[in-house]
Amino acid sequence: MKRLLQQLTQIPGPSGYEHQIREAVREMVAPHADEITTDALGNLIVRKGKVGQGKRIMLAAHMDEIGVMVSHIDENGFARFAPIGGVRPAYCLGGRVRFLNGRVGVINQEKTADPAKTLSLDQMFIDLGGADHGIKVGDVAAFDRTFADLGDRVVSKALDDRVGVAVLIRALRQLESTPHEVYFVFSVQEEVGVRGATTAAFRLAPDVGIAVDVTGWGDTPNVPPMVDVALGKGPAIKIRDGGMLADPRVVDWMISTAEKAKIPYQREVLLAGSTDARAIQLSRAGVPAGTISIPCRYVHSPSEMVDVHDAENAAALLAAMLSREVPF
Ligand code: CO
Ligand code: ZN
Repeated sequence: MKRLLQQLTQIPGPSGYEHQIREAVREMVAPHADEITTDALGNLIVRKGKVGQGKRIMLAAHMDEIGVMVSHIDENGFARFAPIGGVRPAYCLGGRVRFLNGRVGVINQEKTADPAKTLSLDQMFIDLGGADHGIKVGDVAAFDRTFADLGDRVVSKALDDRVGVAVLIRALRQLESTPHEVYFVFSVQEEVGVRGATTAAFRLAPDVGIAVDVTGWGDTPNVPPMVDVALGKGPAIKIRDGGMLADPRVVDWMISTAEKAKIPYQREVLLAGSTDARAIQLSRAGVPAGTISIPCRYVHSPSEMVDVHDAENAAALLAAMLSREVPF
């Protein structure tokens, strides 16, 4: 799992520019897939199980990550930029971004920016290191930060949601056979409004949908005790987030499977934010949907942290769910 996470997180894939990560995932899943397609938006759709048997199940983990897009460059090689997804100014200052051609830029801010005031992306720029940089308006970059192994836990940029991608890959590898028609969707453009999952869900018209994504945490100093989720206590079964009330039947399916298979789990109520499951749930005439979450500290920072056992247990839970009848 650690090696998989290291490989997946280091590949850049800001929303809308997922081609590099998509090709890497395609190679990893090819030996285990019954069919692989890529749709118009770039979602990678991997089928496992015979068409027409059991339930038609859509799983989703997003390949894209937050990043920046250049909006203006001056003659000295300082670029202004727009965020791609939920980029937080406090996490930008002093950080680095890497463009798809490999060029690195450093983010800092105007000297006149008032440190007493809230940080603002409007007063920040990317220093491209001189005028000879080859970067154009509209070019995109992902945050640049190396992977670190802390034992049970790992730290990297883009664990949102490459950890979900890793969970889907591992579940696919563990799943020898399934009585269902299962689609593993490696989705695009989640960070800009669950766009890839929206078109993929329309195409697949699933009977049930499950997203695998990161969630918040409540186990660092002085976090309000509203978030009852901790690293290392198992995958979190989402009951509610800012965009979705998980279908109670899907929640029961997850919990009963976890208890039967003796897989640890946590119950999750997230106050803000949502996942691809929202798009699946509201697709067509509506689809029962839920989310298996990986607790992740410092989401959308270049140093996100997860516990690898939570990811391994999430994959085991998914594989167990897909091996049995859906109880509704
Ligand atoms: Co995110
Ligand atoms: Zn995510």
